[in-house]
Amino acid sequence: MRVSTVEVMTAPVVERVQMARATYRLRIACPPIASRICPGQFVMLRLPRRTDPLLGRAFALYDTDGHDFDLVFLVVGKMTGLMASLDPGDELELWGPLGNGFPSYEGVEHLALVAGGIGQTPFPALIRRVLGRQAYGAVGPRREVARVSLYYGVRTADLLAGVDDFRQRGAEVRVSSDDGSVGFMGRVTQLFERDLANGRIVGRTHVVGCGPEPMLHALSELCGRFGLPCDLSLETPMACGIGICFGCAVKVAAKDGWDYQRACVDGPVFLASELVWV
Ligand SMILES: Cc1cc2nc3c(=O)[nH]c(=O)nc-3n(C[C@H](O)[C@H](O)[C@H](O)COP(=O)(O)OP(=O)(O)OC[C@H]3O[C@@H](n4cnc5c(N)ncnc54)[C@H](O)[C@@H]3O)c2cc1C
Ligand code: FES
Repeated sequence: MRVSTVEVMTAPVVERVQMARATYRLRIACPPIASRICPGQFVMLRLPRRTDPLLGRAFALYDTDGHDFDLVFLVVGKMTGLMASLDPGDELELWGPLGNGFPSYEGVEHLALVAGGIGQTPFPALIRRVLGRQAYGAVGPRREVARVSLYYGVRTADLLAGVDDFRQRGAEVRVSSDDGSVGFMGRVTQLFERDLANGRIVGRTHVVGCGPEPMLHALSELCGRFGLPCDLSLETPMACGIGICFGCAVKVAAKDGWDYQRACVDGPVFLASELVWV
């Protein structure tokens, strides 16, 4: 049975920037993680010298320059509430890089990223990688895909976070909101379906989704109907992040029906076609 071996480290916050309502970017100086972490991987965070919250919380890599790395989070509970008041110099306990990360998309013409809520966070580093751009804009030699579009859905306009980051990295951004306060009015999967149906999406397309489970389920069905390959990055609640506690079990298709895999070591990125929705 695969278990990740990791060292628990302590690292300082370099910067905290508010990006949208209740949404922050945290820059952390931790070269051992920043130099190795890949798009789609995550880290587990705890606050040092505290037992509440007791368990670590998972956060996806937003981007890295090899020395520092960025996380972006939405305040939903105790840990993210405390993270929102961290100042430069405050320390975090962390372990990682964790998880499988996104596969290579070499040969794909068009990578369509579909994000719901705070599910956009794994995508800046991925856009930079697949378009062959090194940290902070220098163009590198290995471009994997011809173009990238990001479909990004929020409940309402003031939750939209990081659109400039995606554009700067080279993605075309299409926005939706449930209340119509910004972009297309409706679910992000409805916007994506409309573009698929009216021929706006051309070329060999591979879809990657991240967001709340009902959105991922809808995206999986949509891709099935249009015959598009699709990877999903799950945000399954986790406790250890390294494969020991089985707290992150997800159902996947198996020869005799279904089986469990652990989102922290077998994922968080899974083929949509292998997930069993309950
Ligand atoms: C691989 C991975 C990557 C993630 N990346 C990010 C990220 O980049 N940015 C970010 O903001 N969050 C991310 N998350 C989610 C984040 O770990 C949780 O929201 C975390 O529990 C917040 O801690 P908290 O103490 O503030 O809230 P908690 O007290 O843990 O939870 C508050 C409320 O949110 C609900 N909740 C907690 N976790 C989840 C979840 N995963 N899905 C749905 N509901 C949940 C709880 O049931 C509760 O109602 C990621 C999760 C995973 C597994
Ligand atoms: S979070 Fe413990 S096994 Fe995955």
